Amino acid sequence: MHNFTFFNKTRIVFGRNTIASLMDLTQPYHKILMVYGGGSIKRNGIYARVQDALQGKTVLEFGGILPNPEYEFCMRTVEICIQENVDFILSVGGGSVLDAVKFVASAVRYKGEDPWDILEKGAPVSEALPIGCVLTLPATGSEMNMNAVISRQEKGQKLAFSSSEVLPVFSILDPETTFSLSPHQTGNGVVDAFVHVMEQYLTYPVNSPVQDRFAEGILLTLIEEGPKVMKTPDDYDVRANIMWCSTMALNHLIGSGVVQDWTTHMIGHELTARFGLDHARTLAVVLPAVMRHQMKQKREKLIQYGERVWNLAGNEDAIDSAILKTRAFFEQMGLPTTLGDYHISVPECYGIGRILVERNGKIGERRDIGQSEVDAILKLAASV
Ligand code: NZQ
Ligand code: ZN
Repeated sequence: MHNFTFFNKTRIVFGRNTIASLMDLTQPYHKILMVYGGGSIKRNGIYARVQDALQGKTVLEFGGILPNPEYEFCMRTVEICIQENVDFILSVGGGSVLDAVKFVASAVRYKGEDPWDILEKGAPVSEALPIGCVLTLPATGSEMNMNAVISRQEKGQKLAFSSSEVLPVFSILDPETTFSLSPHQTGNGVVDAFVHVMEQYLTYPVNSPVQDRFAEGILLTLIEEGPKVMKTPDDYDVRANIMWCSTMALNHLIGSGVVQDWTTHMIGHELTARFGLDHARTLAVVLPAVMRHQMKQKREKLIQYGERVWNLAGNEDAIDSAILKTRAFFEQMGLPTTLGDYHISVPECYGIGRILVERNGKIGERRDIGQSEVDAILKLAASV
């Protein structure tokens, strides 16, 4: 196992009726900005529940954050925070709203000239406004992690940053808030969480049996609960299990001390920036292609994955079946697994490998994926 530091300060408040605890949780703060998305929280009653819970407190609000949150919109939120002297931001929504809030909280306190440098140049975030979250879509793990992903359409970019300063002070996870999710968003969430685990697990062994078994436990639970949630979306227990899986999949725990990949996500973000595909839908297309392309490099873990997660024979012959089973699971969750399904051709993807390598150097756990390898992965993804 490699050396690591694990730090996570987020208080998780999980279960039914937990939105009511907002008053206690926000007790130290005086002026709160509540940020939300395109309006789902008004339709499903969560907006009213948050307002009720915070009655008597000074709460401003700003809605309209869209999926794949946009830099310009974030900067308008920054202005409000500064003008109104806000001392706490509350995100009510999915990963997009929360990621926007994380960036806003950083930009408000940013001492440099241009906050975009946090994303483009990796400028460090040394301070941020405190933030909290009422999560309505289990998927990203943003509710208990240091990451945020922001898009800038005018530049065709979708970039991530990471800082312990943006770990939420608390996150309220009430599985009932997820009953109103469409099958489309529910499936997206399950697949995103699944791929988060895979990016931290499917690399090469470093003798980390606890991390491996945590990871396999999350994968097995998603495989069990995923089909159930599509059939019985109002089952509280199923929703609760999926919600906790998504948080555990990307809260830095299973990734501690192990080697990570993130190739699928990097290529996926470029596909979203270029074609507007949902985040999880890019992953369902790219991961099977990465598994196939990197079969030799990931051999040992692929065999372990096949054996422990899919009950396959623990040998090389099972790798192909493990990839097919992964694809079948994504498709069962309603996510297509080829670029062709979205009518995207290989030539339309040209340049993605160059952009990624210019920005990051070679990628993959062995830093062996360069421009031509990304092109080859996209070619495989066209019709794996
Ligand atoms: O905007 P509203 O009206 O709220 O509707 C949203 C949105 O249209 C809707 N929704 C959310 N909760 C709902 C609901 N509809 C009905 N009932 C509810 N309870 O769902 C739609 C999608 O929401 P969004 O927040 O965009 O989805 P998600 O949580 O999947 O977030 C995706 C974003 O997170 C980034 C992705 O790249 C993408 O930008 N990621 C963030 C990560 C992180 N911070 O660690 C890691 C991930 O890998 C990912 O990159
Ligand atoms: Zn993801």
